Amino acid sequence: MTELRLPANSRIETGKTWNAPANAARPREFHIYRFDPSRDAQPRMDTFTIDLDEIAPMVLDAIQKIIDEVDPSLALRRSCREGVCGSCAMNINGKNRLACLTHIDDMGDGPIRLTPLPHLEVIKDLVGNLEQLYAQYELIEPWLKNDEPVPERERLQRPEDRDKLDGSYECILCFCCSAACPSYWWNGDRYLGPAILLQAHRWLIDSRDDHTGERLDALDDPFRLYRCHQILNCTSACPKGLNPAKVITDTKRMLARRR
Ligand code: SF4
Ligand code: SF4
Ligand code: FES
Repeated sequence: MTELRLPANSRIETGKTWNAPANAARPREFHIYRFDPSRDAQPRMDTFTIDLDEIAPMVLDAIQKIIDEVDPSLALRRSCREGVCGSCAMNINGKNRLACLTHIDDMGDGPIRLTPLPHLEVIKDLVGNLEQLYAQYELIEPWLKNDEPVPERERLQRPEDRDKLDGSYECILCFCCSAACPSYWWNGDRYLGPAILLQAHRWLIDSRDDHTGERLDALDDPFRLYRCHQILNCTSACPKGLNPAKVITDTKRMLARRR
């Protein structure tokens, strides 16, 4: 079940219905969360039925069809449509996923239910507020820090050191993991959550970065790091197959080793 961060005592109402064209060969229903906090007292679920024969196979294609031809007021973030930018993350049939990488045919029978990522403040419809997450990203200083003189060309790295970044560099900051993490739901103002901790670890293990001690100091906090209780929701939510829970454990190990 998706939990959304909504105004107190709000209730999701039944919204408008748009039927498929009469000649639709493969009609499919989409139930889509609609809420504009500047205008609406309550959120609602709208029902759109579209002809799958008229679109490409992904959930994002269906949403785009709806925006282009049925209701242009439907809000979502999207850019690459290739699973690279991370912006189309949302909850699809109860699981956080990227709309552009989710095949409609893999969603089984019945209506497909689209809601924003859980526990984010809703800006509008499928768009959640990412301000807190990006402020936390800034806090871990996600750039190379090295006090050696800048070389004439790039800073070199041995292939075996570069290999250590596998499993981290692929992160697209979609936040499917953080929005699936119960610890982040309850303590997101102080716990950094799996996406940001995976990014923090990426810099801890980069052989070219020489500020490891200072980076560990910044994480050595009962909330920032130690609110992870190894529930593993993050790992099962990641659409890129990454394992934030494992790197969080590794970060805790790095801290334990230096004590
Ligand atoms: S393993 Fe840690 S980061 Fe992942 S869902 Fe559980 S508490 Fe959250
Ligand atoms: S770890 Fe996976 S789910 Fe989390 S932000 Fe990165 S790509 Fe998205
Ligand atoms: S649109 Fe870029 S990841 Fe989906």
